[in-house]
Amino acid sequence: MVNVGIIGLGMMGVTHLGIYATRPDARIVAVCDKDPARLSGKSAVSVNIEGIPKGSTISNDVKKYEDAADLIADPNVQLVDICLPTPLHLKFAKSALSAGKHVMIEKPLGRTSAEAFEIVDAADAASGIAMPAMCMRFWPGWDWLKQVINQRKYGAVLSAHLRRVTSHPGGSFYSDGKACGGALLDLHVHDADFIQYCFGMPKAVFSRGYSKITGQIDHIITQYIFDDVPMVTAEGGWAMANGFGLEIPAYKYCPESRIYESSIALDRLLNL
Ligand SMILES: NC(=O)c1ccc[n+]([C@@H]2O[C@H](COP(=O)([O-])OP(=O)(O)OC[C@H]3O[C@@H](n4cnc5c(N)ncnc54)[C@H](O)[C@@H]3O)[C@@H](O)[C@H]2O)c1
Repeated sequence: MVNVGIIGLGMMGVTHLGIYATRPDARIVAVCDKDPARLSGKSAVSVNIEGIPKGSTISNDVKKYEDAADLIADPNVQLVDICLPTPLHLKFAKSALSAGKHVMIEKPLGRTSAEAFEIVDAADAASGIAMPAMCMRFWPGWDWLKQVINQRKYGAVLSAHLRRVTSHPGGSFYSDGKACGGALLDLHVHDADFIQYCFGMPKAVFSRGYSKITGQIDHIITQYIFDDVPMVTAEGGWAMANGFGLEIPAYKYCPESRIYESSIALDRLLNL
């Protein structure tokens, strides 16, 4: 049983809260948000993916903090789960790691690669375990995909295209490119991570994108150059028209029909 403290009860904090509530091996002992109205765990958040738990009741015996430093100092908290806006990840990850806690950090790990490497260095030097919440690696459908690629069940991969496009989620954090990093950082990072997980570090990448909403890149296509996988591309963006919703298409060509009910999967793995 791990005692968990969540910092940040916005969209992702409330999502994590709901997921911990389903686990027999984790117990929420503390929550923190600078906005006291969110400490009930029932803040009105819109999660745009079906099947994701949307919050959970926070019982009276859970400690409630408005200052993250107080949650990190709580001796009852073993794992600090950081669901804060991206620019705050570095400060609180380092602080929790140096306090000897295990740390879960929402993606992207940092606002810049320099910040991300600073967190990695802090984790290497710490006694606790640190883990970024690169959730796609564990989603039904994606874990299957990783296995069939590894096992070469359908032969070598010739081509893969990953697509993650949506209308803009709105809200102050996702509208401020300096904070969220645009879709390039906030969305595309999922597919950049999954491609590297499946195929290793590319020799090179080539990207083109444009800015429309945040002042940063809001829609992007990247081509990955590998010696052994001829065509790998990913598209990520939140510049679609309002009402478009979130599109991460299902396994249209999956011969095993392992289609996750929420249609979360790769767009095409063309050689299947
Ligand atoms: N894994 C995923 O697929 C996924 C999906 C969405 C968002 N995210 C990431 O999760 C992180 C949070 O995103 P979100 O959508 O939940 O944001 P959000 O704005 O909905 O929530 C952030 C919360 O942090 C609180 N907060 C801000 N500063 C604070 C401070 N100093 N101390 C305590 N509380 C503070 C805010 O009051 C708010 O409740 C971001 O890094 C985002 O990129 C990950």
